[in-house]
Amino acid sequence: MTNIHPITFKKAINDIIIGGCSLTELAATYNTPLYIIDEATIIKNCQLFTHLLSEHYPNFCIAYASKAGLNIGLSNLMASNGIGADVVSGGELYTVLNSNVDRNQIYFHGNNKSKEELALAIDHGIRLVVDNADELHNISRIAQEKNKKALLMFRIKPGIEAHTHEYIKTGHIDSKFGLPFNEALPLIQATSCSDWGDFIGIHAHIGSQIFDTTPYMDLVAILVNFIKTIQEDLNVSVKEVNCGGGFGVSYTKNDQAPDVSDIILAMANELKLLCDANRLPHPKLIFEPGRSIIAQAGVTLYTVGAVKPIANHEPYVFVDGGMADNPRPMMYQSEYTFDIVAPSSDHRDTYTIAGKFCESGDILAKHVELPLVEKNQLLVVYGTGAYNYSMSSNYNRFCKPAMVAVHNGAPRILVKRESYKDIIQYDAV
Ligand code: LLP
Repeated sequence: MTNIHPITFKKAINDIIIGGCSLTELAATYNTPLYIIDEATIIKNCQLFTHLLSEHYPNFCIAYASKAGLNIGLSNLMASNGIGADVVSGGELYTVLNSNVDRNQIYFHGNNKSKEELALAIDHGIRLVVDNADELHNISRIAQEKNKKALLMFRIKPGIEAHTHEYIKTGHIDSKFGLPFNEALPLIQATSCSDWGDFIGIHAHIGSQIFDTTPYMDLVAILVNFIKTIQEDLNVSVKEVNCGGGFGVSYTKNDQAPDVSDIILAMANELKLLCDANRLPHPKLIFEPGRSIIAQAGVTLYTVGAVKPIANHEPYVFVDGGMADNPRPMMYQSEYTFDIVAPSSDHRDTYTIAGKFCESGDILAKHVELPLVEKNQLLVVYGTGAYNYSMSSNYNRFCKPAMVAVHNGAPRILVKRESYKDIIQYDAV
């Protein structure tokens, strides 16, 4: 067992058990494709952050990056583990507001929040992470109209190049997100002198699926420097510093993801050290992990519909989902680990796993070695907890699968399977 599998993963005779539940039985009860979420893995991953920081940096908040996967059940699970939320849209904010998450632990990001989204956040006293000057202008008008004070963080571009996929880097200076220091400073000044905004702190996020620890340490140093500038130039103190998320996870045995505990502990210690050296008070420290909390907790279960031999080529295994429930292989060339739930033979072969969508590129993986695959078998994909359901689509009018949480042998539905009726529900006739 590796950290690719949920922590409750067990092989049984002709079955795989997760969260005490048989995958064969889950498929029989809920049908496939099916997203399965192991609650114990989420709880363990949440506690990894909260226990470590409670001991070493008690003034902290963990805001789960809900873009990785969000529904009311998941949000309640995070809340019951003391975790808040990072949201990036009105829809995510609305979902989280309908859950038990503490409103003081919600951070609203985004480079182009609409006026309605800003108003929703201001109405509920949610911290807004300001991306640009036009947005701040909108915030000031809305807050004044409502006679309320907006709680404001500022997103900074730290100028850090983290080594990850081009589409998921965000710290570099030409990133669409955030402001360079010199442009943020006057906006922070304007906010702190205003009666419509409460300046709370600064935020930076350098990217996602990051394996290298150096950029995180650089980030802390850069942010402390900026905290010092804000203090010295504006005489304004920074109460909160949000270092974002992005901690990498292992999807296959070739991945060597670093231990997230080591990174956050090193960052917390560095923050204390640098603040002390600069005679600055210790700000509240916020992290926004998404993938590192939920990726490992999720698996996707498919049924094999057909195995198609191809002359001089590895055979195709056709599953009953694909790019609509997991667009990541197509978008980011992401790799996953696969298995057959109940193998019928010891013979192994190498396959291309293809989805059912009407695109030649709808391939989940190539060169996957598996026990002999036959039609009607169940195929499981590990590590699909993050950015799978949340990036899924109705392409080809596909009905999105159900999501089931499993814990101590009991399954419970988090999201229902869509039906054909759901698919046509917004069609105006
Ligand atoms: N905070 C901010 C401001 C973010 O933009 C993100 C991710 C996170 C936190 C959480 O990052 P995580 O800990 O999950 O790596 N769809 C892509 C990932 C996009 C990430 C966008 N921002 C994927 O499937 O790999």
